[in-house]
Amino acid sequence: MTDIRVKDLHHVYPGGVAALQGISLEIRSGEQVGIVGQNGAGKTTLVKHFNGLLQPTRGEVWVDELDTRKVSVAKLAARVGYVFQNPDEQLFCKTVGEEVAFGPRNLGFAPEKAEALCKEALELTEIGDRAGANPYDLSPTWRKMVALASILSMDTPVVIFDEPTTGQDPASVARIARVVAALRAKGKTVITITHDIDFCAENFARVIALSQGRVLLDGPAAEVLGQAETLAQTYVEPPQLTRLGQRLGLKRTILTQEDLLAELGKKQ
Ligand SMILES: Nc1ncnc2c1ncn2[C@@H]1O[C@H](COP(=O)(O)OP(=O)(O)OP(=O)(O)O)[C@@H](O)[C@H]1O
Ligand SMILES: [Mg+2]
Repeated sequence: MTDIRVKDLHHVYPGGVAALQGISLEIRSGEQVGIVGQNGAGKTTLVKHFNGLLQPTRGEVWVDELDTRKVSVAKLAARVGYVFQNPDEQLFCKTVGEEVAFGPRNLGFAPEKAEALCKEALELTEIGDRAGANPYDLSPTWRKMVALASILSMDTPVVIFDEPTTGQDPASVARIARVVAALRAKGKTVITITHDIDFCAENFARVIALSQGRVLLDGPAAEVLGQAETLAQTYVEPPQLTRLGQRLGLKRTILTQEDLLAELGKKQ
């Protein structure tokens, strides 16, 4: 059970860029949250505060009883796993197997538990048959899976994905959606930054839209993704199906094919 509480968070980078300008929000244990917004909106900066990679310039971030200003990144690593936007910033081992085994070993898990977690992470990401490969010999698609697996194996209650689907083919996007579903089924908190608004609509119950370091919208996916005019301020278009539903004059905000079929079924 892990709750994240953000209170009036500001972050100014050393060069003077005010990337976050007063963000307050709570993410409760087990929530599935999509974070959207234009390039430079502050999405990555925000989530890097959740595991202590960045410190507030002003304001506070709490992970349960832990004040992220006062605890080490190592301590937060047991609660919050963060899959980097760019796997090359994250991966450093010579083989996939070592990479995935590093986290649980570092957290001090018993060898049997660590082994079981690695096996599960390799299976879920479908890279088990590549365990002996050097991550840098793999295609970007599979390198991304290694980055996912090496965080999944740590079994943290909160998992953050930063742009997991960018540059991925449809099979890989479907694989990532299965990973998210598996985490959801385990009751984990999943926070995903994404530019893929269709992926967001299909997989996350709550959506937070950021714009210029502030929260523009925050609420149930159907409420947030239906607000085309406000989303346009952060250059986000509602999902294709949502726009189609609006053009068809459907009252309910459509997020998935199932929603659309149900609404059309009612009209007949
Ligand atoms: N290390 C850094 N040093 C200085 N400025 C930075 C640094 N990292 C990000 N910024 C700036 O802070 C702002 C927010 O960046 P951030 O990476 O959080 O945005 P983002 O929403 O994740 O964007 P993207 O969708 O492009 O990944 C941007 O203006 C960016 O240029
Ligand atoms: Mg980013």
